[in-house]
Amino acid sequence: MFVSAFVSALSLFAVASAQSSASTTSAAASASASVVAIAAAGSSGYSYMGCYNETTEIAGTSGARALSGGKMETGNDTTVAACLQYCGESNYQYAGLEYSKECWCANYLSALSAQLPESNCSLACVGNDTELCGGYLTINLYNLTSKKSSSSGSSSKGAAASVAASSWTNVLGAGVMALTLGAAL
Ligand SMILES: *[C@@H]1O[C@H](CO)[C@@H](O)[C@H](O)[C@H]1NC(C)=O
Ligand SMILES: *[C@@H]1O[C@H](CO)[C@@H](O)[C@H](O)[C@H]1NC(C)=O
Ligand SMILES: *[C@@H]1O[C@H](CO)[C@@H](O)[C@H](O)[C@H]1NC(C)=O
Ligand SMILES: *[C@@H]1O[C@H](CO)[C@@H](O)[C@H](O)[C@H]1NC(C)=O
Ligand SMILES: *[C@@H]1O[C@H](CO)[C@@H](O)[C@H](O)[C@H]1NC(C)=O
Repeated sequence: MFVSAFVSALSLFAVASAQSSASTTSAAASASASVVAIAAAGSSGYSYMGCYNETTEIAGTSGARALSGGKMETGNDTTVAACLQYCGESNYQYAGLEYSKECWCANYLSALSAQLPESNCSLACVGNDTELCGGYLTINLYNLTSKKSSSSGSSSKGAAASVAASSWTNVLGAGVMALTLGAAL
């Protein structure tokens, strides 16, 4: 009883914080309404798979992400190419762009994440408004289809490596808390 009330409070918090930044995002999007964003073709060995659902709000997931167990970054310079490079550096099977600025990398896609119509992924990337970076709880998904041989000699760092540490901590904190609660049940 207490636990499920707490979990609901957590997801309400998540929705509230997502929505408060959603209004900022759509304000920014309508400022450049003349640009039509499209799903970018893949790069860094990834191919575009389509628009997929986030799973955090699906009943029974305890807030688990569609792409979990990997790494993520977010920032004001998010582009598809930067995200695919970031995930590709560690050979993650999947890379997903969500909510204009989030880049998620994981080796597995949740079986609960359904493919959606392309129109459900309609937010332009903060770092390039001609390409799409998912939507609110929706993901432009990329799959690693040509794995690079482990010639990891290149010290590729650069802009993609600058992670917004505080956002990641918040996301991770909520995720870990939800997982811990899930395990306790
Ligand atoms: C923006 O995205 C388009 C479409 O993916 C791409 O052709 C272009 O090179 C990108 N521009 C920058 C500056 O990243
Ligand atoms: C997508 O996820 C939402 C919760 O965010 C859920 O209500 C909806 O049923 C899901 N759609 C599909 C097609 O699974
Ligand atoms: C992104 O831009 C917003 C508004 O310009 C700013 O408040 C925020 O600190 C920036 N975030 C990062 C991670 O740079
Ligand atoms: C996808 O778009 C449809 C039509 O606008 C909408 O009813 C549905 O809620 C959207 N699904 C998600 C997960 O955003
Ligand atoms: C991604 O690629 C792998 C390997 O080719 C394949 O097994 C998997 O089904 C693909 N995932 C999707 C969502 O199409």
